[in-house]
Amino acid sequence: MIKLSDRVNLVKPSATLTITAKAAELRAAGKNIISLSVGEPDFDTPKAACDAAKAAIDAGFTRYTAVPGIPELRKAIAAKFKKDNDLDYEADDILVSTGGKQCIYNMLQAMINPGDEVIIPAPFWVSYPDMVLLAGGVPVIVDTTAENGFKLSGPQLEAAITPKTKLLFLNSPSNPTGMAYSHDDLAALGAVLKKHENVAVATDDMYEKILFDGKTFATIAQVCPDVKDRTITLNGVSKAYCMTGWRIGFCAGPRHLIKAMAKLQSQSTSNPCSVSMAAVAAALNGDQSFLAARNDAFVKRRDLVVSMLNQTPGLRCPTPQGAFYVYPDCAGLIGKTTPDGKTLTNDEDVAAYLLEAEGVAVVHGAAFGLSPAFRISYATSDAVLEDACLRIQRAVGALR
Ligand SMILES: Cc1ncc(COP(=O)(O)O)c(C=O)c1O
Repeated sequence: MIKLSDRVNLVKPSATLTITAKAAELRAAGKNIISLSVGEPDFDTPKAACDAAKAAIDAGFTRYTAVPGIPELRKAIAAKFKKDNDLDYEADDILVSTGGKQCIYNMLQAMINPGDEVIIPAPFWVSYPDMVLLAGGVPVIVDTTAENGFKLSGPQLEAAITPKTKLLFLNSPSNPTGMAYSHDDLAALGAVLKKHENVAVATDDMYEKILFDGKTFATIAQVCPDVKDRTITLNGVSKAYCMTGWRIGFCAGPRHLIKAMAKLQSQSTSNPCSVSMAAVAAALNGDQSFLAARNDAFVKRRDLVVSMLNQTPGLRCPTPQGAFYVYPDCAGLIGKTTPDGKTLTNDEDVAAYLLEAEGVAVVHGAAFGLSPAFRISYATSDAVLEDACLRIQRAVGALR
């Protein structure tokens, strides 16, 4: 048998993808399953993007391209950063990759040395710590609380920084909590970073466009120009533009780092898909008005789910400001017994019970580093969400 590398043994598979696959398996076996585990909106890819992709294929735009992305797309991304975030980047400061995931991966591989510490506020998107480990870094997890809106505070950041700290991860609106940092929250973090010149910041703005209740999006390079030259601003089209399968993400940052990331990309995947890049350029340059209508639908769904979960004894669900996730606290269920006589000892047990008892797939909080809780993705229809929440209520009601 081939012995696996120490490197691959450092990481675990993505919990969200694993649970989504399990739900699909149960469904294929004939079980009535509602999967609220996948971070994927149920809307269509914008027509302008699809039309541009078809035109690209018809025009034979199906060959290798420049590794860091086609110039038209890098220009469109620079224009997006200027228009949406008032950030000045030139095309050469921008890298296009195969999904937001590859941008983060490239960044960590290009900047982390063995032993470098990377501060990750919890709960976090599942891939950050594993990607840090793969790069030889040390994830330093800092817990946040629902009471503080799941946000890292200035004093918490100050306390976590050591001489080995290389990078801070921010993600707003957040996967898995949906919380968003305000301008003032970021200014407080920026004030700390200003004192620590060797600490860089990676801000994952993947859910920028999915923000509700009149909130204004803020990102750290814009709020704190002093740290812009050590900030990597990561973004993409997977979520807001419903282009998860097209596999395009992008980022902007210091040019020498972007060049190093492109060098790594040239030795792994080369350019992102040519047809997808043509589609994304059209999506970014095209009409954006559909985003507001989709956010209205997300708000309705959020309110439905938050309200039904909060009517369930044992669950406490904060109201998020963005993304399409809720992160209810399930401390009230720990220690209870299922009708089969099994005691729920942690949030993994809770998630397993919801799947077995009522066929609802959610992701346990331990996967995101803050327990006991679970994540629900509400990017599905109102009817499905209502059915899912009724099932959760029924399952919880059957506990003793
Ligand atoms: C916070 C966050 N960042 C990055 C990604 C990766 O996005 P992509 O599908 O473009 O690789 C995701 C996807 O779930 C995400 O939730």
